[in-house]
Amino acid sequence: MHKLEIGIAGTGYYVPAKVLTNADLEQMVDTSDEWIRERTGIRERRIAAPDEPVSEMAVRAARSALLSAGVRPEELDVIILATFTADRPLPAGACLLQEKLGNTRAGSFDISAACCGFIYGLEVAHKLLTGGRYRTALLVAAEKLSSVTDWEDRNTCVLFGDGAGAVVIKKGHPHGRIIDCYIGSDGSKADLLSIPAGGSARPITHRAIDEKQQFVKMAGREVFKLAVNEMLNAARMVLKRNNYDTSDISWLIPHQANLRIIRAAARGLNLPMGKVFVNLDRYGNISGATIPVALAEMDQAGLLKRGDLVMMVAFGGGLTWSASLVEW
Ligand code: COA
Repeated sequence: MHKLEIGIAGTGYYVPAKVLTNADLEQMVDTSDEWIRERTGIRERRIAAPDEPVSEMAVRAARSALLSAGVRPEELDVIILATFTADRPLPAGACLLQEKLGNTRAGSFDISAACCGFIYGLEVAHKLLTGGRYRTALLVAAEKLSSVTDWEDRNTCVLFGDGAGAVVIKKGHPHGRIIDCYIGSDGSKADLLSIPAGGSARPITHRAIDEKQQFVKMAGREVFKLAVNEMLNAARMVLKRNNYDTSDISWLIPHQANLRIIRAAARGLNLPMGKVFVNLDRYGNISGATIPVALAEMDQAGLLKRGDLVMMVAFGGGLTWSASLVEW
């Protein structure tokens, strides 16, 4: 181990207790369990309680990650929360999380990169810790997508869920080494996946609400086509610049949006599905939280072995794309 290496020291996750099944959705919109399973791979998703905002889910995932890392909240120098459904527009959700953790000194801020939020956060944390001023960071990706979902729109409401995943990242940690992260985006395609109202361009008004502009809108088919290509490009870029080949990958942890996208990405990387972690069937798409929830589940199940090469890859609103390589 090199004392300057940056490693993932602990993982944690939290999903709300309430399960919303495809059968439940059949009662809400014109859809069927069969359509949802065949087109997406999703069977059920978790839905947060009304009094369970993002900070509440985030703090539970964070406490679990801190425990597994053996780090006390007051040791954190940096707290990063990747989300676009923070408790309120101001202050940053990370500050509310910091307060719940009882930390009073870390620099705390949010990252808005939708489904890529975790890997964007990993890149930022990695570079902050590389810089020398900070030693220990908490990165949480948490999303309450149920609060921005139009429950009358079958095109979107069957896809999303709520939850939070967290990692503690330490300088000089002997394993979990973050080898590299790659982030990219194309803002010219912003409208393919967005929440039109609630920002300064279109504040929340009675009219905006009547027109349901406070909810997620997605051009699913267009996003689908771009997702596979950009995820493959991002993964290949990170492999190439670190002199790895797809055959070196022990585990692929893709963003969990659609099983068909995941299968196509695995095919493109020439990986058998046995090397691909999937929890989409149980949680649906939790945006940036899907990858750290998966990582924590794998960690707790003992699936990750020392030296495993873990490829994480994501795609989402922005449009954004990203990939990261970690040596477990
Ligand atoms: N139940 C039943 N029918 C539905 C439905 C639902 N929940 N949602 C859509 N449909 C219908 C559509 O209305 C359409 O009907 P039409 O042909 O009569 O117009 C038909 O099913 C097919 O729609 P289409 O959009 O072509 O389906 P699809 O195979 O592309 O699957 C998604 C839709 C959303 C599941 C898929 O496009 C997707 O996963 N997109 C990417 C999501 C993503 O990666 N997001 C980025 C990361 S967050």
